[in-house]
Amino acid sequence: MDGVDLTDLDRFADGFPHGVFDRLRRERPVWWHEPTANTPDGEGFWVVSRYTEVMAAATDAATYSSEGGGGRAGGGTIIEDLPAGFAVGVLLNMTDDPRHARFRRLLAPSVAPGTLRLLEAELTERAGRIIDDALAKGECDFLLDLAAELPLQAVARLLGVPQEDRHRLLGWANATLDYDGRELGEATERSRAAAAEMFAYGSDLLARKRDDPGDDLLSVAAHATLDGAPLSDLEQQMLFNLLVAAGSETTRNSIALGMQALIDHPASWNTLRNDRSALGAAVEEMLRWASSTPYNRRTATRDTVLGGQDVRAGDKVTLWWASANRDAALFPRPHLFDITRRPNPHLAFGRGGHFCLGATLARLEMRVVFSALLDRVASVEPTGPLEYTRSNKHTGVRHMPVRLVPA
Ligand code: HEM
Repeated sequence: MDGVDLTDLDRFADGFPHGVFDRLRRERPVWWHEPTANTPDGEGFWVVSRYTEVMAAATDAATYSSEGGGGRAGGGTIIEDLPAGFAVGVLLNMTDDPRHARFRRLLAPSVAPGTLRLLEAELTERAGRIIDDALAKGECDFLLDLAAELPLQAVARLLGVPQEDRHRLLGWANATLDYDGRELGEATERSRAAAAEMFAYGSDLLARKRDDPGDDLLSVAAHATLDGAPLSDLEQQMLFNLLVAAGSETTRNSIALGMQALIDHPASWNTLRNDRSALGAAVEEMLRWASSTPYNRRTATRDTVLGGQDVRAGDKVTLWWASANRDAALFPRPHLFDITRRPNPHLAFGRGGHFCLGATLARLEMRVVFSALLDRVASVEPTGPLEYTRSNKHTGVRHMPVRLVPA
């Protein structure tokens, strides 16, 4: 695999490098990636690309920790080590059981199917308005005008952020998650300023929720007790950051890349226009296809063997969901976009104890947006090239210029 550098973000500038991962699955399903000049912390890491091994590690949290292990000072779920006590062991997704499971149980009711059913009518109305506004423009940026909007409005609703502030969330998420003009582990003035503004906004909002709680998830977090004590200010704050990022970025990218797949496969678009009952399976295929979270990292807590390779305690182990989702052993003709694919056991939302907390919400948002789009729009025509986010952590879209032809 000489010359393959998964920490060189230019490799991801035109979307996820499926060709590289086809080779990895075939030749080195559990591969030791030596450090390069681009690799944070100057150390190598394991790259797990096949479905079977990704599943094995994702469902064995005692061996593959989301915090750290093997005496390592930091850890977390991205390649670069994050400090313990700031992100690690504080952010829900970078905390191990048993605290993780108890933390998660506090939040689960806010995104449970029953709660979301009550939200469905509101989201449907919002989606209709979003598409009508985009249609009124005729030519628009599918990403900003359309794909980003419902996830933002939904996450604002979920967190109890006033709707008029939602575009500030978008600006902060973009500036902190997009690696345009910077490298892994690097911060720029812009990304630092955005993180500081978001932090200050979150603190203010949480203070208001403590005094005057609403029926939102942040109010739950502001008043909850875990292991006999309230969540720390930092835990509450980091939860706000996590949900803004996780709740808006991944869903909008799945919507945009799902739409691009339908543009490239007009027969599938026409099938959906004629038969809305096919939409549930189509959304699953869009999720598999887009795999907007390409990987998450774990740290081995003990010496172990994965896919025949000796993994040492403390090693960084990256699980590539996007690659597992193109594994021919599970998905016949994996590079075919097939909206009738069944079964479709994709790992776009991860697997195991950290399975995406917002999966039901994300699926609902996608169904609602595509349903409103199919009702109102005859076709979506590109008017310029799709521009990808330069990142190995988010397969996403920065801009997607299109013309909407009304139905
Ligand atoms: C299509 C959209 C989405 C995708 C592809 C996605 C993907 C993922 C993945 C792969 C994980 C597992 C991380 C790991 O194992 O380390 C995850 C976890 C998580 N997601 Fe999502 N997500 C999406 C939407 C959302 C939404 C809408 C929300 C919130 C409203 C959300 C909140 C979370 C949270 C809080 C976790 C951490 C769960 C835990 O550690 O127990 N996600 N997501």
